[in-house]
Amino acid sequence: MSRTPTDDQETTTAGRYAEFAAREARDVSPTYERLALAVSRDREVLALLAALPPADRQPNLLFGVVRFLGGPVEDPAAFRDFVLARWAAVAAELRARATQTNEAGRCAVLLPVLAALPQPLALLEVGASAGLCLYPDRYAYRYGDRQVGAGGPVLDCALTGIAPPARRPEVVWRAGLDLNPLDVTDPADMAWLDALVWPEHTARRARLRAAASVAAAEPPLLVRGDLVDDLPALAARAPAGATLVVFHTSVLYLVPPPRRAAFAEVIRNLPGHWIANEAPDVLRHDGLPAPPDGAHHNVLALDGVPLAWTRPHGQALTWFA
Ligand SMILES: C[S@@+](CC[C@H](N)C(=O)[O-])C[C@H]1O[C@@H](n2cnc3c(N)ncnc32)[C@H](O)[C@@H]1O
Repeated sequence: MSRTPTDDQETTTAGRYAEFAAREARDVSPTYERLALAVSRDREVLALLAALPPADRQPNLLFGVVRFLGGPVEDPAAFRDFVLARWAAVAAELRARATQTNEAGRCAVLLPVLAALPQPLALLEVGASAGLCLYPDRYAYRYGDRQVGAGGPVLDCALTGIAPPARRPEVVWRAGLDLNPLDVTDPADMAWLDALVWPEHTARRARLRAAASVAAAEPPLLVRGDLVDDLPALAARAPAGATLVVFHTSVLYLVPPPRRAAFAEVIRNLPGHWIANEAPDVLRHDGLPAPPDGAHHNVLALDGVPLAWTRPHGQALTWFA
């Protein structure tokens, strides 16, 4: 029997949900692992998702939208009923929104690189969401039994193969670029950021609120714009006398491949340094060692040179450079 394009899209979407269950949610969120597996086997839900553009079918986006709309995620059957009954509203949110998860915990894997650069720093984050990763100098860090900095939130990270940095970086300028900057002082934006935090992750939810307070006390410069078209103009606003660091974490999977290449070209023509923390299939590097285990890891790279495997929420870093 010949397959229709819709069959193919359902198969691809099913594979994406199965992979999310196995590589991203397993051991991290049993609730999302269950849901993703259930969706990967549900022809009816897969057929609905297949009618959306690929970027709007992602597990994280679907689960976040259902939570944002007040739907259940604990029980796959109740989740399914909600999605089918409220599909028009769910689909509208899927089309309107993007995964903008803003995880301050990722600063813990950036810190060893940031602290080793010539200080002070002018930080420019592309794909900044609400800008919570722009405060690596304000958060406290716990690397095993070693604490760096004081105050809150405290970001925990298991470091392998490298000593923790002795101190936090000195930041004299911070700016973010995003297609849709979020505002931590806007309750609707905070509700969306909260819905994107995985259900069991109460510590991450508390961290989101604590990091949002840090950002609200000294709001970053957040500019609406595209990471290819608008980066040079924003970079030109960085003060002289500070090391410009352009960085991005978990952003390029949202960017089509030709634009990723254009972005890399723009970055190479900027002064300063470039820190990338992206999945290896999204930003490719030659000669990577095997990742520490089968779980999903990002690659931390400085100026195009890969340095370490990192876990997606900043919970672990394995240095290999
Ligand atoms: C998953 S969030 C990550 C936010 C933050 N980097 C972090 O790690 O917490 C990705 C962000 O990239 C932004 N984004 C996606 N494509 C973009 C583009 N072409 N230009 C600028 N921002 C973009 C999205 O709007 C979203 O806020």
